[in-house]
Amino acid sequence: MATFNTLLLSLLIIVNCIITVIPVVNAENTASALPAKSFQPFSPQDNYLFDCGSNTSTILPGNRTFHPDNSTAEFLAYDGKDIQISGPVPAANVTPIYRSAKVFAADATYTFPITAPGWHWIRLHFFPLNTSRYDLKTAKFTVEADNFVLLHQFELQNDTTVIMKEFLVNVTTERFPLRFKPKGTVAFVNAIEFVSAPNPLISDYATMLFPVSQTFGLSTHSFQTVYRLNVGGPEIETDQDSLQRLWDPDTKYLDPKEMGKSISVSPAIISYLVVEGSPLIAPPAVYASAQELADSNSVKPDFNITWKMDINVHFWYLIRLHFCDIVSKSLNELYFNVYINDKIAISGLDLSELTRKLATAYYKDIVVNSTMVSSPLEIKVSPVDDDAQGTRNAILNGLEVFKMNNSVGSLDGEFGVDGTRVSDGNDSNRQTVAAVGFAMMFGSFVGLGAMAVKWRKRPQDWRRRSSISSWLLPVHAGDATFTNPNKTPLGSRQSLFYSSTSEFGRYFSFSELQEATNNWETTRIIGIGGFGSVYLGLVDERTKIAVKRGNPQSEQGLHEFQTEIQLLSKLRHRHLVSLIGYCDENNEMILVYEYMSNGPLRDHLYGKNLPSLSWKQRLEICIGAARGLHYLHTGAAQGIIHRDVKSTNILLDEKLVAKMADFGLSKNASSGPEKNHVSTSVKGSFGYLDPEYFRKQQLTDKSDVYSFGVVLLEVICARPAINPQLPRDQMNLAEWAMQWKRKGLLEKIIDPTLAGQINPESMRKFAEAAEKCLAEYGADRPTMGDVLWNLEYALQLQEASTMGKTDDEIKSFAGPSSPAVLSPATASSSNPFSHE
Ligand SMILES: *[C@@H]1O[C@H](CO)[C@@H](O)[C@H](O)[C@H]1NC(C)=O
Ligand SMILES: *[C@@H]1O[C@H](CO)[C@@H](O)[C@H](O)[C@H]1NC(C)=O
Ligand SMILES: *[C@@H]1O[C@H](CO)[C@@H](O)[C@H](O)[C@H]1NC(C)=O
Repeated sequence: MATFNTLLLSLLIIVNCIITVIPVVNAENTASALPAKSFQPFSPQDNYLFDCGSNTSTILPGNRTFHPDNSTAEFLAYDGKDIQISGPVPAANVTPIYRSAKVFAADATYTFPITAPGWHWIRLHFFPLNTSRYDLKTAKFTVEADNFVLLHQFELQNDTTVIMKEFLVNVTTERFPLRFKPKGTVAFVNAIEFVSAPNPLISDYATMLFPVSQTFGLSTHSFQTVYRLNVGGPEIETDQDSLQRLWDPDTKYLDPKEMGKSISVSPAIISYLVVEGSPLIAPPAVYASAQELADSNSVKPDFNITWKMDINVHFWYLIRLHFCDIVSKSLNELYFNVYINDKIAISGLDLSELTRKLATAYYKDIVVNSTMVSSPLEIKVSPVDDDAQGTRNAILNGLEVFKMNNSVGSLDGEFGVDGTRVSDGNDSNRQTVAAVGFAMMFGSFVGLGAMAVKWRKRPQDWRRRSSISSWLLPVHAGDATFTNPNKTPLGSRQSLFYSSTSEFGRYFSFSELQEATNNWETTRIIGIGGFGSVYLGLVDERTKIAVKRGNPQSEQGLHEFQTEIQLLSKLRHRHLVSLIGYCDENNEMILVYEYMSNGPLRDHLYGKNLPSLSWKQRLEICIGAARGLHYLHTGAAQGIIHRDVKSTNILLDEKLVAKMADFGLSKNASSGPEKNHVSTSVKGSFGYLDPEYFRKQQLTDKSDVYSFGVVLLEVICARPAINPQLPRDQMNLAEWAMQWKRKGLLEKIIDPTLAGQINPESMRKFAEAAEKCLAEYGADRPTMGDVLWNLEYALQLQEASTMGKTDDEIKSFAGPSSPAVLSPATASSSNPFSHE
């Protein structure tokens, strides 16, 4: 996979260059859109249609003959007793295939010989016929296809309607088994379709919803169709679709209903792009109808149309959005955004640009992973707010939602065919839900954190899912639809062009960042460092970013810029600030990060008059930062030394979750001359510097441990590491505090606002951890893992002592000397991110 990706990337880099230089080439391509009838019809090479339990063939509209399966000993290996039912006609409108069923009292397997490998539809039809011998309403069974679970302990639960379950699997074997396994009395099936599907129907890649990146490996997945909607139009019956798909009307899911207005045109006018399109993707009838804004041109800023659909939050989903501009009078009138679960899925969709012709089909595939899934799934289209002339409108023509198999190859439940279970079952599920809620509440960037939570807590599972991790390009890769000046007309494939830069995250154009920061307005500066200034930026009208603009003259800057991109692009952790992208246009060195709304830890400790953090909050922040460092030292990234650990490089997000920032000085220990340390000129910040490093000029991860010890003292004493205004013996925090600690009197110098709320045992453990970190020799200092353990222990001691008490009680307990402490929520809203 890796080689494939690399190959693809280099290929794309070339393609990208060509497109940048001669965009005209594409314009010509796109001009070629043709009506549906100019495309080859599809005839499936494998086409097994069984009317199970029937004695005669049944012909359905579209001239599809379903054969009886009793004459098919070659397909059905079944050693139990085989029973047919020809029950009374259940309802007049039920198609004939539901009038009989095959009932299995023991495991039974259909085996299909394959003539053409690739995508195949599996459609299973169920209707619980009732006879004197069997009441199929009570049947309960599992259905497996080769190595995928399709249905797990499936029950009809007194359903009196017909049920069709549709799956799409990539068949690679010569014979393909479909197993029915009764889990109660019997299993049954009324009809089976096992039919080749065109291979371009689902390509190997799609865009990941959030963080935006390319995913690969879709062709090894199995899918279950959970929704297929002809938006704005009527039901499309199977015989009106060349792949026998059923398209439901969307009105049931439109919420609120009055926001959408359905519109339709004659299917005959719909064209398809020759390069990327095909009526096989969806028939003209799908594109010939749409919902548009009920009140297009409304000036209400948050005008949108939303569809809500219940889904199972434990799975990943592939969402296919179908668009076709049947509303505009001329090109370039329509320009809108598409959101999935409040995350931007397509920013500034410009169909005119993509298709160069009105009434031309276009579709886009988005993968939503389980950390981003919530139920109901919300799909939203809304006009882009800009001053440009044109109609304010947004449309959607069709929508398909496919469930993707989980890590054990199941599309239903948490067990694989061999009985293996999704590694951490319910726990992971709860976590996922919580993470999603969290992400929804706090906007996009917390979402990154939420995703990382999952990575951190589920390392095993993550490794098992390595095929997915290999889909992710190294960093939060960009999406071309995102105001990409080189927009290409190649349909959904276009976003791949961004992959040329995706190694380092999304590429931002200079003008985009200029706009995001209001032309580098000084009031937007939230931090100034050696490298340059950090600005608060706004993209997509609502997403906050931190934009670090380097000084192009500084040579050190250039080096740090490169270091930071290279390092950060490899690192992903809940407790490391995420790099989102960069810009190097006109010699600029700009890095774009997730925005940390609560700013540096230091501001919450002293000097800014922010509400005092409680002891528990401080412990949690220290634990978070320690986790980030521990990951740098030992995690996937392998042996990275931060080199500039200090309270201004620990940033806090909306929920006061701590993340390590500023990797400009970081060094990769394993790339040094010796394995365990790196010789280097001394860099770092005064007051935090490891004395041993200073003496020997040899950097090890224990230097970070020392600096972290200083941070721990800052946290408990609420004063700077160096305060030149104080008498000489008090100036250096590490020296001064350690003197008090040795005397056993550290409590004399702790932050007075903590008085009374700290459990003495918790404080002792914490002080011990700090002291060990500050050991003279690196070898005597603990690892970050040990520090982490001690801090967690200190937190447990604190929690045990306050068990059953509310935060308010703990604080009032602290007595009048302690100023009122605001809850984190209040604290963050009253505290804009501010650096010195
Ligand atoms: C099906 O999977 C095989 C093996 O993973 C792959 O080579 C093939 O391209 C896939 N087919 C399609 C249509 O994606
Ligand atoms: C969509 O519309 C709803 C209802 O008017 C509104 O509450 C919501 O904020 C809108 N969302 C967006 C993203 O515009
Ligand atoms: C789905 O199944 C395939 C093949 O068994 C596997 O490679 C893939 O990782 C599974 N999907 C997920 C989301 O784990």
